[in-house]
Amino acid sequence: MINVTKTYLPDFDQYVDYLRKIWESAYLTNNGPLAQQLEEGLKEFLGVSYLNFCGNGTIVLQMALKLLSEPGEIITTPFSYVATTNVILWENYQPVFVDIDPKTYCINPALIETAITENTRAIMATHVYGNACDVEAIEKIAKKYNLVVIYDGAHAFGANYLGKSLLSYGDFATCSFHATKLFHTIEGGAIITNKKEWHEKLHLMRAFGHRGDDYFFMGINGKNSEVHAAMGLCNLPLVSKLIAARKAVCDLYTELLDWTHLSAPEWAGGLERNYAYYPVVFESETKMLAIKEVLGQHDIVPRRYFYPSLNKLPFLSNPEPCPVSEDISLKVLCLPLHAELAHEDVERIATLINQHL
Ligand SMILES: Cc1ncc(COP(=O)(O)O)c(C=O)c1O
Repeated sequence: MINVTKTYLPDFDQYVDYLRKIWESAYLTNNGPLAQQLEEGLKEFLGVSYLNFCGNGTIVLQMALKLLSEPGEIITTPFSYVATTNVILWENYQPVFVDIDPKTYCINPALIETAITENTRAIMATHVYGNACDVEAIEKIAKKYNLVVIYDGAHAFGANYLGKSLLSYGDFATCSFHATKLFHTIEGGAIITNKKEWHEKLHLMRAFGHRGDDYFFMGINGKNSEVHAAMGLCNLPLVSKLIAARKAVCDLYTELLDWTHLSAPEWAGGLERNYAYYPVVFESETKMLAIKEVLGQHDIVPRRYFYPSLNKLPFLSNPEPCPVSEDISLKVLCLPLHAELAHEDVERIATLINQHL
């Protein structure tokens, strides 16, 4: 079977060497030496000053929201994974959906201002498929209305914008290191900020909000373990190689697919891509479903990602209509993509799609 992705596993013996050290020390979690070593490596790789390695890419979004001082509304994108909306609701904020740019599929900054009210507290936008949000326009609006900007950068690891990591933009950027991501720690995530004060608060927050017998505020268990950090330490040096291999797969899809009946997002100017996903948009949902079915008959499993448009989630009350996102979410498929995907398989997938377009 060819799945939409395949987890990259590093050299087994290298991982076992780390496990042996963990066994010898019997120190498995609570900001252990490997977690700290990984944080240092991640900061260096991303060129950022402050980063907390955490349990997953969802808890880090919740932690960012916890730092907001007042309840209210969060302006957000309907075109993302469900975690982006869930955390807003979970933290008792009201999501206000702003439609996406029809080219980049990221939140449309031209529509943000009309959605701002006196209750707006933050903008939570997603760097969709590792594409860059219009960070300049969003920053300008946020400054004008004194709003916090949180980027869900679950897909953004390894992507650079104007020569800097995409994760270095915004008041907070989060990332997911889930096993399906191009860099992973099995489960894991990180939160990046450029303010030392926020970083220190997040550091305390992820460990229940106390240091020894001193209790500062209500925290949570957002920590990650030595076993997870070890996987990250094995994978981190391989990221550039993995991105290059993914690029070769993406370039081949782009060359082989028949673009007269397909479209794809436009990548932001100034973006150095990470090739995290290969989304294609069909002319209709019917066409997309028919081709998904054909691929399935050949044991090829693409993913409807993102579907549904998040403003259509059944547990929302009175969400805003978002016609662009609703339309794309019905027609998009992410094709199989991973560093080890054989080029013959890419050819087979592209041929099957072209034959049935
Ligand atoms: C855009 C986006 N945000 C958040 C998450 C949640 O990350 P995690 O699975 O690490 O909790 C994901 C996971 O795929 C995602 O794609």
